[in-house]
Amino acid sequence: MKGVILAGGKGTRLYPLTRTINKHLLPVGPEPMIYNPIRNMAACGIRDVRIVTSSEHMGQMVGALGSGSDFGLNFSYSVQDEANGIADALRLAEHFVGNDNVLVLLGDNVFEEPIDYFVDNYRQKQQGQGARVLLVEVADPQRFGVAALDEKNVVEIQEKPECPKSNYAVVGAYIYDCRVFDIISHIKPSARGEYEITSVNNRYIELGTLQYDIVTGGRWMDTGTFESYYEANCIMFEKYRKEMGVE
Ligand code: G1P
Repeated sequence: MKGVILAGGKGTRLYPLTRTINKHLLPVGPEPMIYNPIRNMAACGIRDVRIVTSSEHMGQMVGALGSGSDFGLNFSYSVQDEANGIADALRLAEHFVGNDNVLVLLGDNVFEEPIDYFVDNYRQKQQGQGARVLLVEVADPQRFGVAALDEKNVVEIQEKPECPKSNYAVVGAYIYDCRVFDIISHIKPSARGEYEITSVNNRYIELGTLQYDIVTGGRWMDTGTFESYYEANCIMFEKYRKEMGVE
């Protein structure tokens, strides 16, 4: 399995923190935010990781992360000229992924504990086919992609719905087979003009090949707002203090 970390965008919701610094390089606890998805890739047994960011931030990203050898990983980079949505950014990794499967992590999603169970379940239960998404129960589903569930399956995902059909947010961690790139080439931009990852996931639902897990063991944070960024800092700094044995 290959890995892709999406770390583009202007991060305007965190201005002025992100005026000159890429959002994913801001600190969360004792480390740059993007270390969290990088460590998750390693924990999931993935070695080859493509990092996608804007041309504006490519220099600082490569300067901060280098070849990946510090993490025992092989990094390569793709330049995203324009921010046209998550699915559009993923498209840049098509040749890198080839005929393999891919774990896609959004660079601004922080997990308190590794999500290796998610990748293990894909490998064991899906024999390398279809898509797998990760859900978490939240108090404010309107901010996210939201999964409508029946007894066994995700039946639909709505992107930032005003009237969510559940409290289950779809977090920024997705596993796909290589058909994802054909699916991306057929989706249309949403009302906000973006190629939405939710459109990709809904196509896998139509094909009957989307399965899911629920985040277990540790909290999940999206750092899209000042409040959630602050919360992620507190949680990850507390984890660091515990690991260091600081009372
Ligand atoms: C994106 C996705 C959304 C998902 C969220 C997780 O939203 O579009 O479905 O729930 O990431 O962080 P964005 O952060 O781009 O608004």
